[in-house]
Amino acid sequence: MKFDPIVPRFPCILHGGDYNPDQWRATKEIWLEDMRLARLARINTLSVGIFAWAALEPEEGRFDFSWLDEVMDLMAENGIAAVLATPSGARPAWLSRKYPEVLRVNEDRRRILHGVRHNHCYTSPVYREKVKNINTKLAERYKDHPALAVWHISNEYGGECHCELCQEAFRKWLKKRYGSLDALNAAWWTAFWSHTYTDWSQIESPSSIGEVSVHGLTLDWKRFVTEQTADFMKAEMEPLRRLTPNVPCTANMMGLYDGLNYYRLSEEMDIASWDNYPIWRSDESDADTALLTSMVHDMNRRLKDGRPFMLMESSPSATNWQPVGKLRRPGLHELQSIQAVAHGSDTVQYFQFRKSRGSYEKFHGAVVDHVGTEHTRVFREVAGTGETLEKLDAIVGTSKPSDVAIIYDVENRWALEICQGFKHNKNYIGTLKEHYAPFWKSGISVDIIDSTKELSGYKLVIAPMLYMLRPGMAEKIEDFVKRGGTFVATYMTGYVDEHDLCFLGGFPGPLRKVLGIWCEELDSLFDEERRHVEWNGTRYEARDFCEIVHAEGAKIIGTYCEDFYASYPALTVNNFGEGEAYFVAARLDEQFQDDFFGMLIDKLGITGAIKGSLPYGCTAQMRTDGEDCFVFVMNFTPEQKSIDIGDGGKSMVSGEEIKGSITLPPWGFDIYIKRNKEE
Ligand code: GLA
Ligand code: ZN
Repeated sequence: MKFDPIVPRFPCILHGGDYNPDQWRATKEIWLEDMRLARLARINTLSVGIFAWAALEPEEGRFDFSWLDEVMDLMAENGIAAVLATPSGARPAWLSRKYPEVLRVNEDRRRILHGVRHNHCYTSPVYREKVKNINTKLAERYKDHPALAVWHISNEYGGECHCELCQEAFRKWLKKRYGSLDALNAAWWTAFWSHTYTDWSQIESPSSIGEVSVHGLTLDWKRFVTEQTADFMKAEMEPLRRLTPNVPCTANMMGLYDGLNYYRLSEEMDIASWDNYPIWRSDESDADTALLTSMVHDMNRRLKDGRPFMLMESSPSATNWQPVGKLRRPGLHELQSIQAVAHGSDTVQYFQFRKSRGSYEKFHGAVVDHVGTEHTRVFREVAGTGETLEKLDAIVGTSKPSDVAIIYDVENRWALEICQGFKHNKNYIGTLKEHYAPFWKSGISVDIIDSTKELSGYKLVIAPMLYMLRPGMAEKIEDFVKRGGTFVATYMTGYVDEHDLCFLGGFPGPLRKVLGIWCEELDSLFDEERRHVEWNGTRYEARDFCEIVHAEGAKIIGTYCEDFYASYPALTVNNFGEGEAYFVAARLDEQFQDDFFGMLIDKLGITGAIKGSLPYGCTAQMRTDGEDCFVFVMNFTPEQKSIDIGDGGKSMVSGEEIKGSITLPPWGFDIYIKRNKEE
């Protein structure tokens, strides 16, 4: 299947990044130089205006678009597409001074002073009006501008505001959700510690100086923060949608940031986009960093159900806010860029094009350094990347089908994080990664989805630690298995409902039937403790969690080796309808993950991007237009690696036919076309 290009008049991989000409208005010759350098770096898109509010509206109601007119014209003349931002990510000082309600109130109920960025109130009617006003002016002015390609809504929405306006909006949202205080008290189990509410006005957002013990409240507050942010974003987009209905809108997200539920937020966008800042160490650990990065790409691809996403930001060199701003080893920059495309991005964009001269980010990696020329190593690497990307037009809009899905549910993550019990650090993300690893290492594509997404269509659905079952989820899983799907659940599954109320009548609650088990108790281990599980004649190491389970129809295929639960089931499978539901009762080691999922991969006939096995630190990923396949082989290690690509195909990088055993240099890659189309 093939999607339309993000910008139909640019049917190529978009290559570019954040560009801040507003910081260089006094030296316009630099703008001209920027255009020359951008073209040299094979950059075809720049994101402008992200933090330009003070330059666009220097005083309330006095607008100055003249500089942006010039910049947009320059971009158009140079064939560069504009990802044009709304400026709400940071506001001018006059606005905060005149209307203090736009300033956020922190959870400790202190109102902030003006400063920094990303810290406005999402409810404030004044802020909404001011944002709508400037967004309307931007849309009116540039709606027919040849450079305008994509709307970049605000910047990295995040955080929360606890001001009175937000408290009132929260109460209103709760009234709509629950209808009555009785229903709310019941859902939140407020009889506990005498926390019953008798008037809506008593309800306050969670706070370190107030309420944190009512988990239903905490969860609903987090949901509200996402809804309020989505609502703010919709208000921002209203004039853009009205005046430029054909220009797609996106808001750049932050990967695994969990202050917002991105699955929900992205419903309001046309395209998903995210900012990727892995901490590459340029050593053996890069393999692990790459694995996690791939997983996050796979999540972003699914936010809009498989439509190519945008890699909106990445650093072409050091990242100044990381504890150690290590330089990228030659090749790593291009590899990280290609990795995004391999997983479904149709763009490679940076923060930032030109290093700023002063303030906070002056030492953050950029395409153009303070020296101001193209004669730098980083510039050459960026230009080289651009050159490669120019060969990938055929990949634009292609999809990345997967037989396997792993459930990453943000609401479940919130519930696990606030859960008082078992072991404080539940390590949900680490657990997801451990389940993703066997597939990444075998070059098998995985979709990272949440509980709201469709399951039918997958051969294998894995739900690590699905502690909270949102409404309808259990039915969806039952239905999936009944129709022939294979489902894998783990310890700590099916404990609570959407309000964080425990299921009565035995865990895993509504999944008890499909899994054919009852989980009686969960043993949490101290960090240094180990238990063992035997499956298929092999002993595997268990750590952190061992659930004590009884089979109720499921077949026991693995058992515990020691402790008072020796010989109890540790691995079960239940035949249910046409499918099978597995339960893994303990947190097991890497060898188990590889063997167990290896068994399922074989059994279900799931295939990877290449046939053979991959060496350590390498993966293969594939995109397809429905006929031809584009295979990416990547080496995330500092050593040269050989990969057997079998019949191979034509390399899109070198233009040569490649097959059999190929050698990838340290941080090297290749991309080849497996032709299925008649020529
Ligand atoms: C974020 C922001 C950018 C910039 C980069 C630096 O992703 O969106 O404005 O601050 O971080 O890494
Ligand atoms: Zn507020």
